[in-house]
Amino acid sequence: MNQVPNFVHIKSPKISLVIDCRRNTPVVHYFGKILSSATNDDMLAELHVRQEPKCALVHEVPLSLSPCLGNGFTGHPGISLSDQGVAWSVGAELVDIEQIDSNSATFISVDEVRNIKISHSLTFDSSNVLKASTTIQNLGSTDLTVNDCAAPTFAVPDHITKIMSFEGRWSYEFQTTSIDLFLGAYTRENRKGKTSHDNFPGVVLHTPHTTEDQGECYGFHLAWSGNHRTRVELLPEQRTYAQMSELLGSGEIVLGKDESYSSPVLYVSYSSEGLNQLSQQFHDYVRKEILNPQFHSLPRPVHYNTWEGIYFDHDTDTLKQLASIVADVGAERFVLDDGWFKGRRTDRAGLGDWIVDKDVYPDGLQPLIDHVTGLGLGFGIWFEPEMVNPDSDLFRQHPDWVLSTLGNPQIDFRHQLVLDLTRKEVCDYLFNQISDILTEYPQIEYIKWDMNRDINHTGDQHGVSGIHKQTLAVYALIDRVKERHPAVEIESCSSGGARIDYGVLQHTDRVWTSDSNDALDRLSIQRGASFFIPSNLLGSHVGPRDCHITRRIMPIDMRISTAMFCHMGMEMDPRELTEEEKQALRDGTDIYKKNRHLIHNGDLYRYDSDGQNINFGIVAKDKSEALFAYNSIIETRRTQPPIFRYKGLLADAIYELKMIWPTKLNEYSPSLLNIIDGKHYSGEALMQFGMQLPIVCPQSGLVFKLTKTTI
Ligand code: GLA
Repeated sequence: MNQVPNFVHIKSPKISLVIDCRRNTPVVHYFGKILSSATNDDMLAELHVRQEPKCALVHEVPLSLSPCLGNGFTGHPGISLSDQGVAWSVGAELVDIEQIDSNSATFISVDEVRNIKISHSLTFDSSNVLKASTTIQNLGSTDLTVNDCAAPTFAVPDHITKIMSFEGRWSYEFQTTSIDLFLGAYTRENRKGKTSHDNFPGVVLHTPHTTEDQGECYGFHLAWSGNHRTRVELLPEQRTYAQMSELLGSGEIVLGKDESYSSPVLYVSYSSEGLNQLSQQFHDYVRKEILNPQFHSLPRPVHYNTWEGIYFDHDTDTLKQLASIVADVGAERFVLDDGWFKGRRTDRAGLGDWIVDKDVYPDGLQPLIDHVTGLGLGFGIWFEPEMVNPDSDLFRQHPDWVLSTLGNPQIDFRHQLVLDLTRKEVCDYLFNQISDILTEYPQIEYIKWDMNRDINHTGDQHGVSGIHKQTLAVYALIDRVKERHPAVEIESCSSGGARIDYGVLQHTDRVWTSDSNDALDRLSIQRGASFFIPSNLLGSHVGPRDCHITRRIMPIDMRISTAMFCHMGMEMDPRELTEEEKQALRDGTDIYKKNRHLIHNGDLYRYDSDGQNINFGIVAKDKSEALFAYNSIIETRRTQPPIFRYKGLLADAIYELKMIWPTKLNEYSPSLLNIIDGKHYSGEALMQFGMQLPIVCPQSGLVFKLTKTTI
């Protein structure tokens, strides 16, 4: 056993994390901008000596990585246990630290009275993102129930007084709200059995003065697709902490001797230079460490998805016709959405019977696949494996294969129930059904994996709450499909964006950001998602002229410029496209194809939104090129729109400036657009002096391209 030092330092290129171990429990002592060698441990210790307050503890209870009742902590415990005895009052003592490099450390604590071991693992990556998890192990012979085991709790400095949350609903995910920290606890709990539309498991804590480009902020994201809790609490003695955990059901985790439970991984990052830098760090991390390099290194093809085009109205000739049109306007992959399998003529029947419906496809899918691939497009297909309609052969044969709770009636939700994936036979059945389709049609290169209801009744076959095991079983089933069919990419969809998190992204390759194809709503959804999720993962489609969700009618140019900054696709009935709209799609997909390397690998720079515009840019890592989007949402309050100051460029480099979208713009009166196009400007002129924006109608998106010249 090593002797426990007073302080442990771990660091990334920009961040220092100092853990205080003086009171035999690991505590975040400093977490912020990297410290130089001018600072030593004594300074950090002395400068924070606190005196005994009136009518309070002589020494504050440490706000440790797992603050517990047994340590005397009166905030929310990081670990809550029960057994027949005294496990409820766990309070472990730090006994060992494993540190093999300066980027990581594991802290091992043991409660010898209760025979419980707690390990905290902290690992920095070169992208300045920290992975943190807590593991609890039962060393005794009595069963130990884990009620809660949060990922490491982070003490947050007291000038961080704002909480930014990510919330929404179906078709309006990832809306951001910043509120003031208050005495007491900000808590978000999600019991939907999936990541959820309404409570994304992420939070950004920041100062009142932090903006996109300046100020301090901390981002926390729990990589988990089941139930979860976020808590940010200001204690009366002026200490704040952030704590995130899987929200466990009653009796869900019971540990026998030597068994252990690990919290989901908490991803944490810090920026001293605003929210953009924080997001860039998360994006770099995901691109480097989470995405499957097999797909990430390839250009992301333009999708065509059939859902909003034809819904359940499948027919091979029609689908072939759609494929021919979309191939002509730039699509590169055709995704056959819901409606291809047995009995699935509406959303009332068929889920669970994953065989091709012979009534609709008498010759199977091959004629359609041959047509699609003959046009040069890839082929993808939709599944919703975790669900079953009561009106299905599967349910008629196995009515007991669903999650349920004894004596409680099921709750209606899109006429479907949730299969109990904690049963091996259910996973085997689903694996075989999916794998049979992929084997019969080896041209299938893509699965849209959907999950369209909340899990209200979480009881498994043993009557125990099963969301923990169910979530792991979903991950395992996806992995099993991938292992057998390694060339198949998988998209995570859950009625749009209800299953987007770094947990599911370790198993999938793209997310369906939202069911809303309304370009204006999409801009704000994509903006919110961009705090943690990089653009290459966010599916975004050019939707129908009149949006099916909001009924807003949107110009094609705006729909295209919104979709091209993510993983672009289209999703409408292309038979309705006018010649002009088809040409716009050809031009738009062409711009996407020419710039997708930049869009999917560059640094994102959002602009602070004034409610009238949602603007952003993407700058290549080497600063050689950039794209900037000015999106007018509503009429400006003044007669002129504001000055647009570019960001992230090299000040002393010269850039060629071109407006590349829309290809035609009808202007009120001649603007600078007639003068600047193709001209050269210094980075500092573009960033410091800025460019007068032209007057455009609301619902317009302009895209500017900058290319560094050698002049
Ligand atoms: C969900 C998805 C949609 C579509 C439908 C099909 O709502 O989010 O994109 O696939 O299911 O039923």
